[in-house]
Amino acid sequence: MPGDAITIVGISGSLRAGSLNSALLRELAALAPDGVDVAVHSIAEVPLYNGDDEARDGLPPAVVALKEAISAAEGLLLCSPEYNNSVPGVLKNTIDWLSRTPDGTEPTLRGKPVALTGASPGSSGTTLGQAAWLPVMRNVGAQLWTGRLLVPGAMRSFEDGKITDESVRARAEKFIHGFAAHLRGGNGKEK
Ligand code: FNR
Repeated sequence: MPGDAITIVGISGSLRAGSLNSALLRELAALAPDGVDVAVHSIAEVPLYNGDDEARDGLPPAVVALKEAISAAEGLLLCSPEYNNSVPGVLKNTIDWLSRTPDGTEPTLRGKPVALTGASPGSSGTTLGQAAWLPVMRNVGAQLWTGRLLVPGAMRSFEDGKITDESVRARAEKFIHGFAAHLRGGNGKEK
């Protein structure tokens, strides 16, 4: 319904303090429409996947916390860097953990609406990185939203973690409003 409050879990695929993707995520959260809470979660405490650890201890606390937050949210927003024309290992590692179900629960991302974006200093703005996420998202059963936001030349579009380029800001606002409309049952093309 148009006015219903919704929660989106936001995750940046970079651990860097000065990350462009984390800045993009914070700005998208700030640009979200009324009634839409983009709750930013960190993946810094997610350990490297190790099947022996999983068999012995089950899911690590950081993964359980993320699973619970994502399961309770209406959608997931991923701001992912592009590494070597593909996905960054730290975020792929998190998605791999989230796809595990040693406790017999549903895979976290199955049927979950996911919006994917990314920023890079280069000219492609994570085009290839976003494409590399497609088979991963398909395999985990995520419902990848079709809206697209590429942020090339991001060193010039951000200053002190804020978007300074008005055209990037306008595209970012359209993106997060579109995803919110999609989650509320619209076609995601509003605004
Ligand atoms: C990069 N970078 C990069 N950029 C790009 O547009 N295409 C690429 O294939 C790569 N490959 C790549 C590999 C590795 C290992 C690193 C560390 C970096 C540059 C990358 O986009 C840049 O460092 C971003 O600033 C990373 O995102 P955050 O940390 O600012 O969010």
